[in-house]
Amino acid sequence: MAWSLAKSPRLTKLWAAPGSDGMGVLAERVPLDPLDPEAVSRFCIGKGVELVVIGPEAPLAAGVADAVRAAGIPVFGPGKEGARLESSKAFAKDFMLRHGLPTARARVGGYEEALAAARAFEGRCAVKADGLAAGKGVIVCTALAEAEAAVSTLAATGAGSTLLVEELLSGPEISMMAVLDGKSYALLPASQDHKRLLDGDLGPNTGGMGALCPVPLDDAMLRTIRASVFDRALAGLAKDGLDFRGVLYAGLMLTPDGPKLLEFNARLGDPEAQAVLPLLDADFLELCLACARGELGVDRVPARAGACVSVVVAAEGYPEAPKPGAEVTPGAAHGLDGVMVFHAGTKKEGSRWLAAGGRVLAVVGLGADLAAARERAYAALPRVAGPRLRWRKDVAAKVLGRSLA
Ligand code: AMP
Ligand code: GLY
Repeated sequence: MAWSLAKSPRLTKLWAAPGSDGMGVLAERVPLDPLDPEAVSRFCIGKGVELVVIGPEAPLAAGVADAVRAAGIPVFGPGKEGARLESSKAFAKDFMLRHGLPTARARVGGYEEALAAARAFEGRCAVKADGLAAGKGVIVCTALAEAEAAVSTLAATGAGSTLLVEELLSGPEISMMAVLDGKSYALLPASQDHKRLLDGDLGPNTGGMGALCPVPLDDAMLRTIRASVFDRALAGLAKDGLDFRGVLYAGLMLTPDGPKLLEFNARLGDPEAQAVLPLLDADFLELCLACARGELGVDRVPARAGACVSVVVAAEGYPEAPKPGAEVTPGAAHGLDGVMVFHAGTKKEGSRWLAAGGRVLAVVGLGADLAAARERAYAALPRVAGPRLRWRKDVAAKVLGRSLA
């Protein structure tokens, strides 16, 4: 997002609070707590900031958008109540059901209720922690012992005092994001995440190991997604009195019974953003400002021809216990045609870049089609990351079940 904002000719000055060493190349870093609404709004008032763009879920859930908006500054990012669509899966499920959005049948409750529900589904279910869990709060089960263990595991986490147990759905998954201005929405091009840690969609769920954009969807499918998911979400937000300005992300499964909503996020997907934003044929700053002011005026964000593939480089031990310290060399991708590197968990030590988080950076290939984009990303990867880091080798090898590799 910082890279997209920095490209805008309308930008005069960009601050990142607190940002990261990687973002420091694009923005002036501000040492303040992004979860402290008053500190953020005081800073913005002091500097005469004209637009605040909130990236991740935690500051949204902490009510930073509300505080800054109350100070009269336009904000791209929903308030605390709207962000509950992401920060509470029980709230989101209730919203989906009340407003007629297609989603899996589910039971919501504490440990005992969840165990009973897992038994009622005979173990074929997705067990989900209610609260924020950085993409690690869902366990998909196909047998009763597995489901009972999943209930115990998630109930023991901070996010899992309330649990959801859902019927098991199947089909390819896509990420459909829209920007909202409080009364209308514009779709971003469809993308696809790779949530599992290992090749072949094996291993545990993660925050996301790679993404591709665009997913080729036909017009009929797009119309269905608009009508059944986004039109209803927008009407539901209005009915519930929620003025949502920012990104609404729908995690969709394309089941034989049509698209079903697995989850909402109240922000861009990561790593979907790294594959979607480079393809936008729009000034991202203007887009955020239009949403923040309630003046969106389009129903689709224009995209360039071509495709983008982003491959996440993760630290050894991710997602359970990532090991810090492995060196990455993002500079080695400079000058490569159609290749970009976006930092995530990195830090700078002298002139070296070191891993300082689970997902360390994303290597992004941009090309005429997905196959070309994929080839560029994978050709650059070994230059950027060494053997102490890991990445999936099959990002964008398939799209909607069709092989590209
Ligand atoms: P969520 O965070 O709710 O999107 O769940 C994370 C991942 O778990 C999804 O991307 C799916 O792969 C899987 N998942 C979630 N809900 C279900 C479901 N009801 N049936 C099958 N898989 C699911
Ligand atoms: N990649 C999925 C997410 O950002 O939640």
